[in-house]
Amino acid sequence: MPRPTRYITTPIYYVNDVPHIGHAYTTIACDVWARFWRLDGAEVFFLTGTDEHGQKVAKAAEASGESPQAFTDRVSQTFRELARSMNIANDDFIRTTEPRHYRACEELWRRIHAAGDLYLGEYGGWYAVRDEAFYRESETTLGEDGVRRGPTGAPVEWVKEPSWFFRLSAWQERLLELYERNPDFIQPTSRRNEVISFVRAGLEDLSVSRTSFAWGVPVPDSPGHVMYVWLDALTNYLTAAGFPDETHPRWRFWPADVHVVGKDILRFHAVYWPAFLMSAGLPPPKRVFAHGWWTVEGQKMSKSLGNVVDPREEIARVGLDPFRFFLLREIPFGQDGDFTRRGLLKRLNVDLANEFGNLAQRTLGFVARNTGGVLPSPDVLSEDDRALLDAAAGLLPAMRIEIERFAFHAALEGAWQVIRDANAYIDREKPWALRKEDPVRMGTVLWVLAETLRRLAILLQPVMPDTMGRLLDQLGVGTEARDFAALAHPLPGGRPLPQPEPLFRKVEETVGQGG
Ligand code: MSP
Repeated sequence: MPRPTRYITTPIYYVNDVPHIGHAYTTIACDVWARFWRLDGAEVFFLTGTDEHGQKVAKAAEASGESPQAFTDRVSQTFRELARSMNIANDDFIRTTEPRHYRACEELWRRIHAAGDLYLGEYGGWYAVRDEAFYRESETTLGEDGVRRGPTGAPVEWVKEPSWFFRLSAWQERLLELYERNPDFIQPTSRRNEVISFVRAGLEDLSVSRTSFAWGVPVPDSPGHVMYVWLDALTNYLTAAGFPDETHPRWRFWPADVHVVGKDILRFHAVYWPAFLMSAGLPPPKRVFAHGWWTVEGQKMSKSLGNVVDPREEIARVGLDPFRFFLLREIPFGQDGDFTRRGLLKRLNVDLANEFGNLAQRTLGFVARNTGGVLPSPDVLSEDDRALLDAAAGLLPAMRIEIERFAFHAALEGAWQVIRDANAYIDREKPWALRKEDPVRMGTVLWVLAETLRRLAILLQPVMPDTMGRLLDQLGVGTEARDFAALAHPLPGGRPLPQPEPLFRKVEETVGQGG
């Protein structure tokens, strides 16, 4: 049977800024999803990258005194390094300044043009450089400070220039049909409803080229015009799949299974993008999932407040895997959440160190001290043994459903239920008492615990790849036996295990942790 293919993308990040927790969040979530389906036997293509054109990036380059190319080369590299430092297993890293991307943009433009959906006109209206978005007058408000702002709070400026337009108004009904026929196209449902109301309210044609600056992909056969940065940026998802070369080995991944985006950029992905694609005769993605936003210690994260969370600092403080775990466990993906240092330490010290770390330490430490480091073989299994093993075996089917719908917190909560069950099982079975009374029974109890740990470690690899790799090492599980197919093959008893090491290092809360 051919392996199923799956294609997942993060947004491509603007290179005007240093990476923050918002960037880390989406990328880690996609990484977990990609790793999960890979371990489950799928062929996964996982894409991330940087968005390097447009006025916002051009202005940032100017402010730093570098040429746009030198500036984007440098900042793009910091995003690549962030991905590496977060142990992200992406298959490609796309930059919109690459030649392959220019080719894809030009071809998409030509196809949309050939379909009759582009016309030349003049744009007169409001534009927010910070959002790289056009707003209707009714979406803006004039503040007491005399500054007019868009719905996101970004200042807008009046733009009047020759422009190409995309006939978005002509796509209203077909977009509504797309949402109707594919109820999962936009997730979560609350976001889907918002997009549907927006489209129902009527769509205006969209300005898709700019003439007042040059930092973009030139419009084919139209000197002076560069493509609107969002048309350029969205096309990255096609570029990386080999477009326009339909014989490219990656083309079989299109349409993408899911674009994961923050709620602020859903409109671009769920309205403009499928319209561009359908106009060009290409199938739209199967799903767009919008996650929520993090505030920091109760406040909106912003440079002016000076509270931007640098993922690299948090990782240095608590370790990478606890950071990954925290982001996905703390709040349901799709909802907003608050990032607090106290919350992060609590997840590390309680969920990870006390609950999971202790389970491993109690089990493997006991084997090291009492059975000469050899994992015993099981004898007859009791009802109590079976209940724990069955609970662990039930995790894979449950996690498949939860990971598919991005319910990471629920998938993790299910695993933690088993961890708590296993800790209660040790307290009930008391292997320390069995050591003298019934060593055979003690052996069975230890084996049941080790086998439960093996299952947990295999299933939690997507979230905590390093730490679970170390746990599997301690259980003597070879690297060839770590995918989900291997779940069906229980640990052999009678083998010596390596010396156990603690999985997690607690970090105590100190005064002034808030800063
Ligand atoms: N370049 C565009 C995306 C183009 S995709 C074809 C862009 N880039 S961005 O760097 O500004 O933002 C990237 C992502 O970070 C967005 O999905 C946004 O929602 C997310 N976040 C920015 N701040 C965030 C939080 N405070 N919390 C969670 N995610 C946040 O938009």
